[in-house]
Amino acid sequence: MPRLVRYQGRVALVTGGSSGIGEAIARGLAARGAAVALLSRGSTRLQAAADRIAGVGGVVSTHPCDVGDAAGLASAIDAATARHGRLDIVVCSAGIGAHGLFPDTSIEAMDAILRTNVQGLVHTLHFALPHLLARGEGWVVNVSSVAGRLGQPDEAIYSASKFAVTGLSEALTVELAPRGIHVLALYPGLVRTALFTDAELARLPERVRRSALHPDDVARATLRGLELGRHEVTIPRVAVGGYLIRTLAPGVFRRILASIRLPALPSR
Ligand SMILES: NC(=O)c1ccc[n+]([C@@H]2O[C@H](COP(=O)([O-])OP(=O)(O)OC[C@H]3O[C@@H](n4cnc5c(N)ncnc54)[C@H](OP(=O)(O)O)[C@@H]3O)[C@@H](O)[C@H]2O)c1
Repeated sequence: MPRLVRYQGRVALVTGGSSGIGEAIARGLAARGAAVALLSRGSTRLQAAADRIAGVGGVVSTHPCDVGDAAGLASAIDAATARHGRLDIVVCSAGIGAHGLFPDTSIEAMDAILRTNVQGLVHTLHFALPHLLARGEGWVVNVSSVAGRLGQPDEAIYSASKFAVTGLSEALTVELAPRGIHVLALYPGLVRTALFTDAELARLPERVRRSALHPDDVARATLRGLELGRHEVTIPRVAVGGYLIRTLAPGVFRRILASIRLPALPSR
């Protein structure tokens, strides 16, 4: 498997690079010597992140765009590639989340999640992959979620969007390997970022909220995964136990999940 052993001289495109996990991965890449091109919607937040990342060294560029707008996304990726002259690493971290029961979720909110988390990521790869394929070498990081391995009540549409990312990544891992492209799917548990509002987090039990990770922990695990040639990184590792229980004893798994999510679930 192609391990990422050298960052110097490489160029990374990071969607969702203005905040949270995307920013932390971009900072990690820049600190190791890669140039980074950041994409997200809010240009002020994007510039602020670029300034923070430039502080650790490296060349940083910003390309404001909405991953849900195919034409704008294509122009942003072309501009980023032209600016740096090449593309080696694509990190798809742009995403939105929502906690809420399915019947209480508006169709507009559902569509926004699917457009950003699924269509936006698919389109990013569609426009970016030709640059990697042309070099015969490259790395893709698709940010899924533990919710993309274990269906989560109270975030059903978000979970559905992340299962799509999981399936896409699993297929592309095999499809793109012969062409020199290494795909890593990232499965974080709860991370302290701007993804969920305080009101949404209040729907989780206190002990789950207390266990939230820092984005830098996720970035470190991701870069280590790339360096070791891994195709999957789950953080925290304890979640892998959940995958096993889900497979071997689905009834037990459902009871555990229901008890964890009890505060938000409707009573009979
Ligand atoms: N936080 C968690 O607990 C957790 C757990 C598992 C997986 N994840 C995944 O990690 C990824 C990053 O989330 P995060 O936790 O780091 O949240 P975050 O801090 O809110 O970052 C989300 C990033 O995505 C950008 N973004 C959102 N919608 C966009 C759009 N339509 N077009 C372009 N950029 C867009 C945001 O910037 P703008 O709003 O300015 O566009 C921001 O840069 C997401 O895919 C999320 O599903 C998060």
